[in-house]
Amino acid sequence: MEKEIKEKMFKKALEAQKNAYVPYSNFPLGAAVLMKDGSIYTGVNIENASFGLTNCAERSAIFTAVSQGKRNIEALLIVSSTKNPVTPCGPCRQVINEFADGKIEVVMMTEEGKELTMTSTELLPGAFNDSAMEKNNGL
Ligand code: THU
Repeated sequence: MEKEIKEKMFKKALEAQKNAYVPYSNFPLGAAVLMKDGSIYTGVNIENASFGLTNCAERSAIFTAVSQGKRNIEALLIVSSTKNPVTPCGPCRQVINEFADGKIEVVMMTEEGKELTMTSTELLPGAFNDSAMEKNNGL
């Protein structure tokens, strides 16, 4: 990914992180998703007193983009307030895969700028996808 675009995504994710609703974990995350058309959407984690209803930052960002009619992810960036970058949880990896045509870059960053980049297929090898639902799926 271009350095300029990464910086733009980092700034947007950092700005969004302030809106994380995390009264239970006090663990705010911000995400920025770059779509194939160049648009960027952000998301934060949104917790609930019924803990299992929590929505992760990555999924918030992706669902916002999809809600606006954007379906193809180019790259995703996540920001955490931790010493080391935070990787997406399992369900988020599956959702990333749903809207990533082939492998995309997932950049995990700390507020201080420490960075880890992996592809979506490295994060979720052998992902379940729509082709698995075909009757003649080759298995
Ligand atoms: N969280 C995310 O937003 N994304 C992840 O990929 C991992 C976990 C959130 C959920 C919860 O609000 C907090 O981090 C602690 O689990």
